[in-house]
Amino acid sequence: MTISDPLILPNGATLKNRIVKSAMSEALADEYNNPTQAHIDLFAQWSAGGAALLITGNTPVDRVHLEHAGNFVLDPDSDIERVSALAASGKSGGAKILVQLAHAGRQTPEAINARPTSVSDVQLDLPGYGKPTPASEAEFKEIIAKFVRSAKIAEDAGFDGVEIHAAHGYLLSSALSPRINTRTDRWGGALENRARLALEVVKAVRHAVDPRFIVAVKLNSSDFQKGGFDHAEAVQVAVMLEAEGVDFIEISGGNFEEPTAYQHASKSGSTQIREAYFLDYAAAIKSALAIPLMVTGGFRSANVMNDAISSGKTDLIGMGRPFIADLGFAARLLSGEITKAPFVEQNFPPADTLPRGAVLNWFCTQIALAGKTGAPDLTISLVDGHKSYLNQIKLATERLLEARRD
Ligand SMILES: Cc1cc2nc3c(=O)[nH]c(=O)nc-3n(C[C@H](O)[C@H](O)[C@H](O)COP(=O)(O)O)c2cc1C
Repeated sequence: MTISDPLILPNGATLKNRIVKSAMSEALADEYNNPTQAHIDLFAQWSAGGAALLITGNTPVDRVHLEHAGNFVLDPDSDIERVSALAASGKSGGAKILVQLAHAGRQTPEAINARPTSVSDVQLDLPGYGKPTPASEAEFKEIIAKFVRSAKIAEDAGFDGVEIHAAHGYLLSSALSPRINTRTDRWGGALENRARLALEVVKAVRHAVDPRFIVAVKLNSSDFQKGGFDHAEAVQVAVMLEAEGVDFIEISGGNFEEPTAYQHASKSGSTQIREAYFLDYAAAIKSALAIPLMVTGGFRSANVMNDAISSGKTDLIGMGRPFIADLGFAARLLSGEITKAPFVEQNFPPADTLPRGAVLNWFCTQIALAGKTGAPDLTISLVDGHKSYLNQIKLATERLLEARRD
C-alpha cells in the first residue's frame, strides 16, 4: 500500500490517492466574510495539483466567533453563488473538497468579540483575547444547530463534505480539556461530558446531511498541556466519534497557547524535529478504530509517508505548508518525479528565537500572494512576510468592523 492507492471511505466516497491538503486558514474572504476570486483561484490550482482531497481553512459557523477577519462564513447571509464557485473550483481539477467547520470559542480575537462564548470563563493566556462567557444550555443547543445549518449550506453549495474542527483549542477542542472546561453540569467533568459537545455536533450533522456527504473530524492527539486533554483520552474520544458515524478522523495536536501543530525547528540548542511528529500518537488511535485515520503534521518524505501507510499507522497523509510553498507538488510526489515535499520552513530559525507566530504569518502572507497572483514568492524574508500578514489582518479587521457598523 502506498500514497498512490485509492481509499474508499465508510460512506462510499472514493479518494483517488492518500494525499490530503489539510485545512489552512486562507484569510482571503471579503469584509462580508464571503469567498473572493483569489480564494476561488487558489482552490482551482490546488485541485489540479494532484491531491485527492482538499480541506478549506477554518470556516466559522457563527459570524461573531471568527478565528480572524478573513474567514469565510457559512450562514444564511453567505453569498451562496460565491460559496458554490469555491466548491466548484475545489473540484475542478479532480479533487474532492471539504469545508472545515469551526467555532473559535475563546480563541476569537478581542477586536471581533470582546466577550466570546466559550465552555467556561477560563481566558486564553495570550494578549488580544477577551474574557469568555460560559455557554448556557440553550446556547449549546444553538451552537449545535449552527454547525448543522452550515453543513447543510455546504452540501447545497456542492462541497463533498465537512470536517468538524475539534482540535487546536477552538470551542469543541476546549470543551474536551479539563484545564479549560471547568463545568460541573452535563457538559463538564467526566470525559463523556467533555466530549458531549463534539459528539452532539457530529451526531446532528450526520443526521441532517445525505449519507454520501463526508463527515470528518479533526482531533488533537493531545493538547500537550499540563492538566489538558491527553493522549489516553484522545483514543477514547476517537472511538466515541467513530460510533457517531464519522468517515475519518484527522489527528493533530496543541492549541494557541501550545502551538505544536506546525513545528518547524526545535528550540534552540536541541536537535532538529523529526518528520511526522504525531504519527506515533496516531498509531494508538488507529489501532482502536475501524474507520480511516488521517495524520497531519511534518510529513515531507515520500518514503516516510509510504511507510506510515504500509505499516498501517495511518490511511491518509495530511500536509499543510508544502501546499503553500508549491501549489502543485502533490502530483510530482505521487508520480515519483520528486521524493520530498517542499520543506521551506526548515531553513527558518527556531521558533523560540522569533517573534510569536512569525513563521505561521509568513505562510499566511504566501497564501494571500498565491491566491492573488497565482504563486507564492519564497524570496520574501521571514520578517517581511510576518509584518505583511500582521498588516493584512489589521486592515481586514478594520474593514470588517466598518462593514458591520454600516
Ligand atoms: C498558514 C496556516 C494556517 C492554518 N490554518 C489551519 C486551520 O484553519 N485549521 C486547521 O485545522 N489547521 C490549520 N493549520 C494547521 C495545518 O492544517 C496542519 O495541521 C499543520 O500545518 C501541520 O502540517 P504541515 O507540517 O504539513 O504544515 C494551519 C497551518 C498553517 C501553516
